[in-house]
Amino acid sequence: MAHLESVAALLASLGDDVVVTGTALDGRRLNDWSGAPHATPRALLRPRSTAQLSEALRICHAHGQSVVPQGGLTGLAGGACCRAEDVAISLERMHAIEEIDPVSGTITVQAGAVLQAVQDAADRAGFLFALDLGARGSCTIGGNLATNAGGNRVIRYGTMRDQLLGIEAVLADGSVVSGLHKMVKNNTGYDLKHLLAGSEGTLGIITRAVLRLRPRPKAVATAWCGLPSFDAVTTLLQRAQAQLGGGVSAFEVMWPSYLNFVMANVAGLRAPLSGPHAFHVLLENAGSDAEHHQAAFDGFLEQMLTEGVIDDAAVAHSQADALALWAVRDAPGNFPTLMPGLIGFDVSFAIADIGRAAAECDTLLRERWPGCTALVYGHLGDGNLHLIAHLPGASEQPTHAIETAVYDLVRRYGGSVSAEHGIGTHKRAVLGHSRSPAELAAMRAIKQALDPKHILNPGKVL
Ligand code: FAD
Ligand code: LAC
Ligand code: ZN
Repeated sequence: MAHLESVAALLASLGDDVVVTGTALDGRRLNDWSGAPHATPRALLRPRSTAQLSEALRICHAHGQSVVPQGGLTGLAGGACCRAEDVAISLERMHAIEEIDPVSGTITVQAGAVLQAVQDAADRAGFLFALDLGARGSCTIGGNLATNAGGNRVIRYGTMRDQLLGIEAVLADGSVVSGLHKMVKNNTGYDLKHLLAGSEGTLGIITRAVLRLRPRPKAVATAWCGLPSFDAVTTLLQRAQAQLGGGVSAFEVMWPSYLNFVMANVAGLRAPLSGPHAFHVLLENAGSDAEHHQAAFDGFLEQMLTEGVIDDAAVAHSQADALALWAVRDAPGNFPTLMPGLIGFDVSFAIADIGRAAAECDTLLRERWPGCTALVYGHLGDGNLHLIAHLPGASEQPTHAIETAVYDLVRRYGGSVSAEHGIGTHKRAVLGHSRSPAELAAMRAIKQALDPKHILNPGKVL
C-alpha cells in the first residue's frame, strides 16, 4: 500500500496541477528514444519550481517512493524510462532562460530549457552556446547535464561538463544544493556539479545551471571531404588541428556504409560528392577573422588535395550549403523508423585504434550475420564511434548476441562502452567492461551516501 500512500501524499501536498495520474497520463510519451523496456509510472509530477520539486522529493523519500527524472526524452540509454512502481518527474515546466550575463559570459537557465532555445538565446545576445547535437530541438539542459552529452563540437569546446559553471539540484531527501555561481575557478572541496554531471538522475535532480557562453565565431567554414584511407583521415585531423589556428569545431567521419544507407533511404538529402570514397569527413572550422577565414580554409583544403590526403572536397559557400552538409550527418534521427529494433552503439577508442577496431567490427557483423546492415560513423575527433546494426526482415533482432560481440571487442581494445549517451539500463551489464571493480565500488559508495534509500532512478547506471 506504500505506493498508494505516496501518491496520495503527493496529491495532498502538491495537488493535481503537479501530480498527474490515471487516465490523465493517456497518450503521453513517457519513455525515451532507446527502445528500452518501460511501463506507465504510478504518477507523473510536473513541478513549477525548485521548491515544489524539493517538497515532492521530501515526500517520496519519506515513503521510499522511487522517482525517474525526465527531460526531453531523447536519451538513448533507457535512463528516463520508468517501471510501473516509479513516479516520473518531468522538468518541462521549468524551462526559463533566467539571465544572460555578457560580462561574465554566462547564461543561467532552468533544467527544462530545450537546448535549441538556449542556443538561440545565446545567439541573440551575440554569443555561442557551444553544445550541439541532433536532438537539439527536444533535449533539455537537465538531460544534457545528467548524461554529460557530447555531440558535434566537443573537439573544440568540450562536453556538457565543460560548459558547466554552477548548478542547483534537489537531492534524494528533498534538500536543495545550490552553487549557482559564475566562477571558472573554485577549488573549495569536492566539486558537486561534476558529480551531478553524468550521473543520469541517480544522485540528484538538476533544477538550474549557470553555463558558459563562448564568443560567437565571426566566420565558419564547412567542407565535406572524400578520403582514400583511414590513415588519411587521422592525417587530416592532425593537420587541420595544427594548421587551422585551433579552430576545428567539428570533425565528423562517416564510413561509406553510412553514407550509402542515408542517401538511399533518407529523403531530401543531397549527395555531398559525386564519386565513391573510402571515408567521408565533415570538417568545420570556426574563426574570428571574417575577411580571411574562408580563403585560409580553402588554401588548406587545396594543400591537402595536392598532398593526396583528400581526394575531393565540397566546400559550403553559404549557410544553406553548410546546412545541407549537416543534414547528411544529422540523418540518424530517421534510423528508428527505417530500422525498427536497431541495435545502436556509442563507443570510444584511442584515435590510433579506431580504424582497425571499426574494420574488425564491420567484418565480424557481416560474417556472423549475413545480410546485416552495419553502419559506422561518429565524432572521430573525440575517438567516438556510433555503430548501427540491424537485420532487415528478421522477426527478432539478435540484440544480445550482437551486443556481446561488439562490447567484447570494445573491451579488448580498452575502449569505452559509452562515449556520450550514458549507461542508463541499456549498458549497465557492460559497465564493468570499461570501469574497474575499485571504480565501481567508489561509485556505489557515493550513491549510498547521497541516496541511501535508492529512490533516485533505481536500476540505472549501477
Ligand atoms: P532524457 O532522455 O529525458 O533523460 C536522459 C537521462 O538524464 C535520464 O537518465 C534522466 O533520468 C536524466 N535526467 C533528465 N533530466 C534530468 C534532470 N533535470 N536532473 C537529473 N537527471 C535528469 N547525445 C550525445 O551526447 N551526443 C549526440 O550527438 C547525440 N545525438 C542525438 C541525436 C538524436 C537524433 C537523438 C534522439 C539523441 C541524441 N543524443 C546525443 C542523446 C540525447 O539527446 C542526449 O543524451 C540528451 O542529453 C538527453 O537529453 P534529454 O533532455 O532528452 O534527457
Ligand atoms: C549521433 C548521436 C546518435 O551522433 O549521438 O548521431
Ligand atoms: Zn553522437
